[in-house]
Amino acid sequence: MRRSRLLISLLLAAAAGTVTTAAVPQQRAAAAAPVPLDRVIPAPASVRPAGTAYTLGAGTRIRVPGNSAEARRIGGYLAGLLRPATGYPLPVTTRGGADGIVFRLGGRDARGLGAEGYRLTSGGRAVTISAARPAGLFHGVQTLRQLLPAAVEKGTRQPGPWRIAGGTISDTPRYAYRGAMLDVSRHFFTVGQVKRYIDQLAQYKINTLHLHLSDDQGWRIAIDSWPRLATYGGSTQVGGGPGGHYTKADYREIVRYAASRYLTVVPEIDMPGHTNAALASYAELNCDGQAPPLYTGTKVGFSSLCVPKKTTYDFAEDVIREIAALTPGRYLHIGGDEAHSTSHADYAAFMDKVQPLVAKYGKTVIGWHQLTGARPAKGAVAQYWGYDRTGAPERQQVADAAKNGTRLILSPADRAYLDMKYDKDTPLGLNWAGYVDVRRAYDWDPGGYLAGVPAGAVLGVEAPLWTETLSTSANLEYMAFPRLPGIAELGWSPARTHDWTSYRARLAAQGARWDAQGIHYYRAPEVGWP
Ligand code: ACM
Repeated sequence: MRRSRLLISLLLAAAAGTVTTAAVPQQRAAAAAPVPLDRVIPAPASVRPAGTAYTLGAGTRIRVPGNSAEARRIGGYLAGLLRPATGYPLPVTTRGGADGIVFRLGGRDARGLGAEGYRLTSGGRAVTISAARPAGLFHGVQTLRQLLPAAVEKGTRQPGPWRIAGGTISDTPRYAYRGAMLDVSRHFFTVGQVKRYIDQLAQYKINTLHLHLSDDQGWRIAIDSWPRLATYGGSTQVGGGPGGHYTKADYREIVRYAASRYLTVVPEIDMPGHTNAALASYAELNCDGQAPPLYTGTKVGFSSLCVPKKTTYDFAEDVIREIAALTPGRYLHIGGDEAHSTSHADYAAFMDKVQPLVAKYGKTVIGWHQLTGARPAKGAVAQYWGYDRTGAPERQQVADAAKNGTRLILSPADRAYLDMKYDKDTPLGLNWAGYVDVRRAYDWDPGGYLAGVPAGAVLGVEAPLWTETLSTSANLEYMAFPRLPGIAELGWSPARTHDWTSYRARLAAQGARWDAQGIHYYRAPEVGWP
């Protein structure tokens, strides 16, 4: 009895073996077929498949122009990405030659590619990335990564082959501003955690990191002239944990690292509301001269700087001056949302005094869209965070401001807020704007989103990630992936490429990359992962 069962097992195994053997060549062929040139997020502006694939080999060199240290650095970055999985040495060389991975910067090849565009041509003996500016080379490198098998993202040697389909991609962004915001106030995130997120953002050609540096629950950046903001105001977070703050050196390191990934940092100091951490740190910022206790809950709208007091503007100027001096980017975000404890007249008076301080230190104001209810400074940018239930008058106010020259960043809360739950079962996040599933996050058009807004007024899109319920990198990743790539695509890709079915298939192919990178993403059921 026993023996005959064993025999049957053996026979079955043999039969299975036959089946497996027969299936292998087909599986190999499938694995070896290069990723199609259009299976990239964000969707490239133009894709023309042609000719034979290029295959990376042990002798492949990365050829960079000799006259650009930045191109050489991007070459080194690419080599660093590809070496662990391929096991190839991939030397970066400034020696001329037409084979290998070739970077070209400027010249005739780069016409029409602008500040961030690139052209990638693959086939035969080379894959060439051309760009007018180093940022374009960097974005081209991100595309090149996605054209290689997902296993290229692993940290240990993999079998390959490492083929890149033949043809040409020509690609430029739809919008100049493609942002992601991280709330480091509700929960503090270390420099290392911020860098990890920056690397994730850069893969999808996000070019702006907005850091929400202050709120009721924590002040996160050292200010020399008001030291207690960080040492006391930064000493806690939601739930009562230890909080933390960035020293100026830490912040500079974030700015430097972001720049190495072609992201610009936009610092936000939220005023006049969302200021309990500052009010708790300095009694003189309060109208009654009494410092409130530190706050570790999640309510909003209860705090306000004292609008009539001169001290308030000494404070605002010192903070703006010190942060502007640390920030190479052009924007400084002054918040302005949910100032429910500030009268409308006080709010407008406050903004009239603070916006010129931003200009005084050479920066351009960004404010949450409530700024459009005051008097936005010339050149100011408003960040729209309304949602389907936002009333018509409020939308109209934003549209009117846009007609008057205020440019807009679109972050509709029921589309672009990465902290909204996917559905009722999502263990993290909030739901005040509703549930935002993957399709909802992707399936809208920034160009036509707000009625009456001139197309040219839209500077771009941003995906904010508020952290009342999020305290680890794994938490951030669970909320950002797979929705963040959708917002990134809305920011980069031409409107004519917009198509949920195509996007869904391209998104499904990202899962294996995130697995290889150790990204803790949510396997949303609507995506159809392989
Ligand atoms: C915001 O969500 N309060 C900008």
